[in-house]
Amino acid sequence: MNAERFIENAIAEIKRDIKGRAIIGLSGGVDSSVCAMLAHRALGDRLVPVYVDSGLMRQSESDRIEELFKDLGLVRVNAQDRFLEALKGVVDPEEKRMVVGETFIRVFEEEARRIGGDCLIQGTIYPDRIESDGGIKAHHNVGGLPSRIEFKNIVEPLRDLYKDEVRQVARALSLSPEISERMPFPGPGLSVRIVGEVTRDKLDVVRKANAIVEEEVEEFSPWQAFAAILGMATGVKGDNRVYGYVVAVRAVTSRDAMTAEAMELPWQVLRRISGRITGEIPTVSRVVYDLTPKPPGTIEFE
Ligand code: XMP
Repeated sequence: MNAERFIENAIAEIKRDIKGRAIIGLSGGVDSSVCAMLAHRALGDRLVPVYVDSGLMRQSESDRIEELFKDLGLVRVNAQDRFLEALKGVVDPEEKRMVVGETFIRVFEEEARRIGGDCLIQGTIYPDRIESDGGIKAHHNVGGLPSRIEFKNIVEPLRDLYKDEVRQVARALSLSPEISERMPFPGPGLSVRIVGEVTRDKLDVVRKANAIVEEEVEEFSPWQAFAAILGMATGVKGDNRVYGYVVAVRAVTSRDAMTAEAMELPWQVLRRISGRITGEIPTVSRVVYDLTPKPPGTIEFE
């Protein structure tokens, strides 16, 4: 792929397809960031990038994204309570994706009404479409779209690209490495890193555990590394029996997320991660490391 030519064509296509004002959901991931830069070049201030703080994001992520994209006129919508309320009682992973996807769309529709636009730009990439069409996972921005939608026009400039191609385009657009090399993070965020019902308490735990894992494995440059809550188990801390969360740690190598291998992290790194998670988060009783490749596993647990 020639990144420069792709950029030229994508900007021309956006100019051709969007005549009025448009919204883009900008999460700060490489896909939506690239999309936002392309759309900004094509539409200028007819583009309104919206960052939704769903409460499902990683530690400090929302403030950082707001800071990084303030020059694009980013609008931040704080919707933590709304997402938590919508997710109440939901345990099925695909239903979680639908609920999160629908809540995002409703927030975007409200913003679109506010600015007087009827077009939504999305950073959907090729593997999102394959996995959704193939029934593997309804990625929140594809199969997770609700059937009733106010937007008249949905534009997906990256629909034919793989992640490594999106990164090439990001570099060609001079996005900072913090964005162009950013670790993939699922659209439904931490909600799919909690097996079972999402609660505020579990979100706090999994957010802290994710931060520890990312910090400890950074030097090994995995495709993705994260923590998820799998369930509950008995442990002992000090002199007390604790019935606490089981946190799974996953670190994988991959080329395009279609397949993946568990990373062979040094034992001392795994021990440090385990020690920090159980030491720094009082309600975690156990830490396990996931060895499963994809297939038969998937990268996320849900
Ligand atoms: P899986 O878990 O299917 O993940 O092996 C493949 C890649 O996609 C990410 N992922 C998602 N991304 N919405 C997204 O935007 C989703 O619903 C979703 N589910 C998984 C996952 O983190 C990995 O990079």
